[in-house]
Amino acid sequence: MMILRETPEPDPWHFARADLAAAYLDAFDLKLSSARGLFARRRMGKTEFLRRDLMPAAVARGYLVAYTNLWDSRSAPATALLSALSEALEPQGLKAVLAKLGRPVKKVKATASVPGMEGTLEAELAAPSTDSAVALREILKQLDRQNKPLLLAIDEAQVLARAMHSDFAHSLRAALDIRKLGIKVIFAGSSETTLREMFARASEPFYNWATLEPFPLLGDEFVSFTVKLMNSMIKNKITLAEGRQAFDELHRTPEFFKRFVERYVLYQPQGMSAALAHTKASVFSDEHFSKQWAEMNPADRAVVTLLARGDGDIHGAASIAAVSAWLGKPASKNTVAHALRRLQANNVVTRLGLGHYRIEDEAFAEWARRRKQ
Ligand SMILES: Nc1ncnc2c1ncn2[C@@H]1O[C@H](COP(=O)(O)OP(=O)(O)OP(=O)(O)O)[C@@H](O)[C@H]1O
Ligand SMILES: [Mg+2]
Repeated sequence: MMILRETPEPDPWHFARADLAAAYLDAFDLKLSSARGLFARRRMGKTEFLRRDLMPAAVARGYLVAYTNLWDSRSAPATALLSALSEALEPQGLKAVLAKLGRPVKKVKATASVPGMEGTLEAELAAPSTDSAVALREILKQLDRQNKPLLLAIDEAQVLARAMHSDFAHSLRAALDIRKLGIKVIFAGSSETTLREMFARASEPFYNWATLEPFPLLGDEFVSFTVKLMNSMIKNKITLAEGRQAFDELHRTPEFFKRFVERYVLYQPQGMSAALAHTKASVFSDEHFSKQWAEMNPADRAVVTLLARGDGDIHGAASIAAVSAWLGKPASKNTVAHALRRLQANNVVTRLGLGHYRIEDEAFAEWARRRKQ
């Protein structure tokens, strides 16, 4: 589980996005909104922005900060969130919460050091006997006493949309609702559909609560920053134009671009095209995708292939015929609809609009396109 007091190691390759971080914090300072949701496809830099830009900028402005990635703990998001929040507590506050959770105070006093206490509370939060709604109330009560605003970043927030977590999501919403001035929340995730449902469906606990907007993607400035830094370290420099071309061919995905840079630096004599070809072959042919593919059912594979190729109306006759050919037996509109529903539930596909779908992970889409049948 993430211990927030450990700020990430400095990374010379991190392209700082101070203006973007300031823009989010300014909007909170204006008190126009207290919650924002941001989404972008996989590997586009959401987590890195939250951890390396937004949270430090918030700390500099006097915020307490709490970060949690719910995908890492999707079976127990309540515990993950509570323990992230508790990391923003002072030792006194931690003790008070433990006492409220029924832990003997004597024992608590024995655990003097803060890191030890964190472990204690975390174990307590995870205990089956702990009522997460009660724990949430107590932790927030203690946070209220610190008289500092809190920025809570919930990464992969779509996990909260699952029905099994509905009770906790409701109590979270209620608790945050009465603290709009003191607690600002950023929800982030790669599944636009699920995030939209969280905020747009009247029956959902977060209905109408956060504005949802696309996360601004890294572009030319990131490429020139990275190319300059790389060129300052090596003999065979590349041009900015070459850098941009590589970035484009890697679907403007920062993670892949950095892999390209690494490859190029290590194998300079082979040249830029070879480094790009190698990177493409490796990122778009991950073992991981073969495994994901093997676990999918045949109708889902057929639908993913059609979506990856981007041909036409997925619910149309041509597409149903293609699915039938793939399956070797007649398919129907329902076959496609069921596959789409499963693919969305598994965060493989996102719905952009009526009849309009996209594969979440562009690398997987590319892999599926390249796959020989
Ligand atoms: N600002 C940045 N500067 C340099 N590299 C970056 C930056 N943002 C992202 N990257 C690179 O892209 C990779 C992926 O970023 P990150 O994990 O933040 O994406 P994400 O959108 O959270 O993806 P996912 O949806 O899979 O969680 C990082 O490991 C890093 O290599
Ligand atoms: Mg992430």
